[in-house]
Amino acid sequence: MPRVRTPFKFKTSDRIAVTGQPGTGKTVFMNYLAHQIPQERLWIVDPLGQYNDFPDANRIIPNDLDPEKEFDEIAREIMTLTDITLFVEEAHRYIPEFGKIGSNSMALINRGRNYGHGIVASTPRIQHINKNFFDLAQNVVFFRPGLKTRGRYLSELVAPDAKLAIEKLPDHEFIYYGLRDDTWNKAKLNFGGGKPPETTAAPAPTEPEIESVG
Ligand SMILES: Nc1ncnc2c1ncn2[C@@H]1O[C@H](COP(=O)(O)OP(=O)(O)O)[C@@H](O)[C@H]1O
Ligand SMILES: [Mg+2]
Repeated sequence: MPRVRTPFKFKTSDRIAVTGQPGTGKTVFMNYLAHQIPQERLWIVDPLGQYNDFPDANRIIPNDLDPEKEFDEIAREIMTLTDITLFVEEAHRYIPEFGKIGSNSMALINRGRNYGHGIVASTPRIQHINKNFFDLAQNVVFFRPGLKTRGRYLSELVAPDAKLAIEKLPDHEFIYYGLRDDTWNKAKLNFGGGKPPETTAAPAPTEPEIESVG
């Protein structure tokens, strides 16, 4: 199984949720992480067309007429393969907490790991993403949450000291939280003093480093 070089624990077969209010840095982070995955193993569900620095072969732009069904078909295809890491933006559309999730999607979430499949899913509101996914997730990458996610949703997921730190995060800083052992670290992607490139949300694949803060 391929391993990627990050300062935090990350296996390509992990399930990771990335959450935080819009504009806090989720896509830039996901894009960075996606660049660490070998391209032949990388699938990206890119409904907002933000990953155009990747080859078309890696990207699926759903038409979102029936998002759960469309995702179920993607999951079915992935389950015929091994060692795929799937990145999903707007994951609440495809694996919603309240909605009909197809059997292939469930299989991918529940058993994909046995075939080396990982899922990195982002959503502004973690409470809208399927709880099955959370039960099996190794880590959550928290950017600053919106008001509706603060309070009880956060309390249910993380330790009280982490909750306080998450609510106070400045833009672009994140807390990488291990759901298994309640360990966490604060960090930020650094682009050599500058901003990520304007054209896409993409950082150069090798340059930015994750720096621990606080
Ligand atoms: N680590 C970072 N350093 C500097 N600027 C960043 C960083 N992360 C995000 N940004 C800036 O913030 C904007 C919003 O980030 P984005 O990842 O698109 O947020 P989200 O996906 O949470 O809505 C980006 O276009 C970029 O200009
Ligand atoms: Mg985004």
